Amino acid sequence: MTDEVLDVRNLSINFGGVMALRDVSFRIEPGRIIGIMGPNGAGKTTLFNLVSGVYRPTSGSIRFGGRQLAGLKPWKVCRSGIGRTFQSGRPFTNLTALENVLVGLRYGKPGEILGGKDAHREAQRILGFVGLDGHGDRHVSQLNLMERKIVELARVLATRPKVLLLDELLAGLNPMDLAPAIHVIRKVRDEMGISVVWIEHIMKVLMETCEHLIVLHHGEKLAEGTPAEIATDTVVAEAYFGKKGGRGFV
Ligand SMILES: Nc1ncnc2c1ncn2[C@@H]1O[C@H](COP(=O)(O)OP(=O)(O)OP(=O)(O)O)[C@@H](O)[C@H]1O
Ligand SMILES: [Mg+2]
Repeated sequence: MTDEVLDVRNLSINFGGVMALRDVSFRIEPGRIIGIMGPNGAGKTTLFNLVSGVYRPTSGSIRFGGRQLAGLKPWKVCRSGIGRTFQSGRPFTNLTALENVLVGLRYGKPGEILGGKDAHREAQRILGFVGLDGHGDRHVSQLNLMERKIVELARVLATRPKVLLLDELLAGLNPMDLAPAIHVIRKVRDEMGISVVWIEHIMKVLMETCEHLIVLHHGEKLAEGTPAEIATDTVVAEAYFGKKGGRGFV
């Protein structure tokens, strides 16, 4: 399974003299749920933009399955098995939920791309998996925020990723929608075996769901460890709350 390891090393990007990310390294083993935390502007989305091919790094490497991804176009990164969602949410609003998933299916591995009825059936199956059974014919413009986010998740699942990058999937959701959304994310890992790398600001959710957390601050990796280690890390607490000598989150 080593071919499914995502290995990021010394990743940096400079925007006109500003280092948005500096020397960030980590490894994601297959089948894990990893949380990425950090205050606003820490570089979390920039990290996803680099891994997914939106930005080309100034330096460093991104290896997946032994292959170098740094500098590849986003669609090539997607075909290599890395999928993502967007912080602002970007489903195709002029298409139905089902059509959004059909678009994702077109980006699967060459040779595995389904057509016609098979694609339709697979799209229905994926909508069922994420809990949107019976919503396939609705236009995205008619869906609520939670449903739009889940359609975006279904679309990326249709590309058959091995690693899924989630950028604040829960942001803006009604508190009563959090538990069903978290349930779907857990299922993605548990039943599909996909590694999930999950940026979220709701600390409690990351602490309870993730096995490992990476903390970014001012573009650098500040800490990494189990939720228990991060919860009691005084350096992390200081970055969030500015309190020296604090006792962490607990
Ligand atoms: N294309 C760009 N050009 C210039 N600066 C950029 C660009 N993209 C990101 N940045 C800068 O990089 C820094 C990190 O931004 P990023 O969006 O990665 O933060 P974040 O951790 O995702 O924050 P948030 O929690 O608010 O989403 C910010 O200072 C941002 O202004
Ligand atoms: Mg962000």
